[in-house]
Amino acid sequence: MIELRDVHRRYDRVHALRGISLDVEAGQRFGIVGESGSGKSTLVRLLAGLDRPTSGEISFQGQRIDGLPERKLGFLRSALQVVFQDPMGSLDPRMRVRDIICEPLGRTDRERAAELLAAVGLPADSGDRYPHQFSGGQRQRISIARALAPRPSVLVADEPVSALDVSVRKQILDLLADLVDRFDLTLVFVSHDLGVVRRVCDTVAVMRRGEIVERGEVAEVYDAPRHPYTRELIAAAPNLRAELARLRGGA
Ligand SMILES: Nc1ncnc2c1ncn2[C@@H]1O[C@H](COP(=O)(O)OP(=O)(O)OP(=O)(O)O)[C@@H](O)[C@H]1O
Ligand SMILES: [Mg+2]
Repeated sequence: MIELRDVHRRYDRVHALRGISLDVEAGQRFGIVGESGSGKSTLVRLLAGLDRPTSGEISFQGQRIDGLPERKLGFLRSALQVVFQDPMGSLDPRMRVRDIICEPLGRTDRERAAELLAAVGLPADSGDRYPHQFSGGQRQRISIARALAPRPSVLVADEPVSALDVSVRKQILDLLADLVDRFDLTLVFVSHDLGVVRRVCDTVAVMRRGEIVERGEVAEVYDAPRHPYTRELIAAAPNLRAELARLRGGA
């Protein structure tokens, strides 16, 4: 589905990505973890065609996208949709929810909007309202509905629950996992939180300073991390440590 070969991205003085190679297969739930500044969002922008690599190759469904001009990226814009961290920042406050959700379609389709609202668990009359009339969790549901509107095959979520109250995080994660199943989506899920990635992903890549230092099946990487940095991350996540201990104890 997605293929990166030796991808670099430099900003003036920052070398944000240093030779990233990875493959995301259709149907995979691919997690990307790493500390702040490790290059996760830079990678997301490159995957979505919102930014270009300094060098290296990026393909989507077998087609090179790294050198394509904006006008030729139309297919990617509908096939791959991104959900960002801050739902308020990504929703236009002056637009009705129905129009926001239908934005990627280029025109408002009331029926499709109603379908999408139902799919993300929002009341049917939400379409008439404005973003500020919703809670943080509900606003993230609106962003998810908008991402699903063009029937993408890949959903990329960049820290989709980090800005939310702990109490609603699980609901949004469960919703995402459910939608990925229901619509047969490939998921790329970015988080600094290993517990969250463990909950929704089957595969994980660990990023550090612009490089992938370890990757594999989630269960394997978390149970037997090979790279010292992965061990550090796990050790620094007390809840995750407790959960892993419980899982092992029960096995
Ligand atoms: N447009 C830009 N111009 C200059 N430097 C940038 C730009 N975007 C990102 N960077 C730098 O690239 C590095 C990687 O940033 P990136 O946002 O990808 O990290 P991240 O892993 O998403 O971090 P976080 O967990 O905080 O979201 C950082 O050092 C950042 O300051
Ligand atoms: Mg980021």
